[in-house]
Amino acid sequence: MSSGSRFANFPARFYLRKYYAHIGPENAALMRAAAAAVASLDTLGTVVELGGGPSLCGLLAMVAATDSGPHRVVWVDIGAPNGEELAAWLRDDSAAFDWGPALRWLERETGADAHALTARLRAAHWDVRRADLWDGLPAGVGGVGDVVASYFLAEAASDDADGFVELTRRVREAARPGARVALAYVRRSEPYRLEDATLHPAFAVDEHSLLPLLHAAGLQFAELEVRRGPRDEPPARPGYAGLVLAHGRLREPLAGA
Ligand SMILES: C[S@@+](CC[C@H](N)C(=O)[O-])C[C@H]1O[C@@H](n2cnc3c(N)ncnc32)[C@H](O)[C@@H]1O
Repeated sequence: MSSGSRFANFPARFYLRKYYAHIGPENAALMRAAAAAVASLDTLGTVVELGGGPSLCGLLAMVAATDSGPHRVVWVDIGAPNGEELAAWLRDDSAAFDWGPALRWLERETGADAHALTARLRAAHWDVRRADLWDGLPAGVGGVGDVVASYFLAEAASDDADGFVELTRRVREAARPGARVALAYVRRSEPYRLEDATLHPAFAVDEHSLLPLLHAAGLQFAELEVRRGPRDEPPARPGYAGLVLAHGRLREPLAGA
């Protein structure tokens, strides 16, 4: 049976420094896609982020794209250090990771005010759940998401289509009908290493293979955009070909269904 336990001690600070200390084409594309996912909403309501790790990139972009912060953020991840990073940022700890590069990029891109944006996100009710998504959603998270986001989870934590689909089912399970969904993947990922020498398996997905996998996971979209995203140069690590970005709106149940 699959388990997320190899991510239990996810190297959160190493990962943040490596991938989020600088906003290159990949992070810019992710933030634009996250913003596009929620652009038609007046308020974000409840945002569920699955495998969110220590990254606030997508959420900051969503807050910048709407006039209000989320009412509630439900953050599900198995890595204990990720929760510690989030907690440090939420209490404005001087040792917290500096999200300045992403905030300054959002200021330039959207005209948002970084202080207001930060305050709005910190003011949300944060519900940080440490859980293994192979075991299903934690209690109380099913169907609560007005917005459900998952970036670099399903392809990074599985090594075959069945595993990818199983983790993607959590997106559908967390969403209310009509929810906005934002998804991102490392495109055509080969096995990869984090801080230590362990080689992590990955599932190679691209913009052509993604849609049937989303359907197999039970996601039915009223609107969907899937596209290939850029790759940083030099690339962040060996063995991938940019990003795959998808965002859309789930179907409402049909009348009488
Ligand atoms: C590559 S990181 C992506 C982090 C973040 N979403 C981002 O955009 O940078 C993968 C994340 O998925 C989490 N993860 C992996 N398997 C998991 C599982 N079975 N249940 C919950 N979280 C898991 C890891 O702890 C890690 O934070």
